[in-house]
Amino acid sequence: MSSPDKSPIYTIIVAHDPDLVIGDSAAQDLPWHYPEDLKHFKRTTMGQPLLMGRITFESIGGKPLPNRPCYILTSGKLEGVRCFSDHRQAMDYFYTSRYQRVFVAGGAGVYKTMLPHADEMIITEIKKRYEGDVRFPEYRHDIGTVWKETDRTEHPDFVIKTYIRDQGDEV
Ligand SMILES: NC(=O)c1ccc[n+]([C@@H]2O[C@H](COP(=O)([O-])OP(=O)(O)OC[C@H]3O[C@@H](n4cnc5c(N)ncnc54)[C@H](OP(=O)(O)O)[C@@H]3O)[C@@H](O)[C@H]2O)c1
Repeated sequence: MSSPDKSPIYTIIVAHDPDLVIGDSAAQDLPWHYPEDLKHFKRTTMGQPLLMGRITFESIGGKPLPNRPCYILTSGKLEGVRCFSDHRQAMDYFYTSRYQRVFVAGGAGVYKTMLPHADEMIITEIKKRYEGDVRFPEYRHDIGTVWKETDRTEHPDFVIKTYIRDQGDEV
């Protein structure tokens, strides 16, 4: 099969609390358990490739999620999964791949490096505050300029918002 030589769409998918907390480094896990948000993650990413950091990969059991090829950023090597030593190497690989979209699934360092390259963000805003020391990078000052909200779904405990990078008015 010929490769398209075209950058895929990079979609960040994340859940954060009001202080941008996404995780806890001691527990290496999510600070909360919202089954409806996990279902949303599963539904949204099903069949699509995921790019994530080594710790996040270990936190999901150290093996790819069903029907979602996983690509890992790490300075090391992991058995049975494609690893990249930096995001540029990963992006070069995806450029020549058949993927039209890649989901960026965390954690903090991966979000931070990939945020400037992201075309879209699907963000679950958890309403309650949680303890945790792993945070999503601050982006909220860019809403309305860099990021345009295109969709919003309300749940009792959280709101799921979709943002696309605003390309400005095209002529
Ligand atoms: N709420 C959410 O939506 C969400 C999503 C994902 C994760 N989380 C949570 O976040 C926490 C894990 O995140 P984390 O930030 O601590 O770790 P992480 O980003 O998952 O993994 C960090 C490791 O990934 C590698 N890495 C990261 N960025 C890299 C880069 N640009 N280039 C090369 N390698 C890179 C390094 O691996 P080596 O040390 O092997 O070199 C680094 O030590 C957990 O608590 C997890 O549950 C939350």
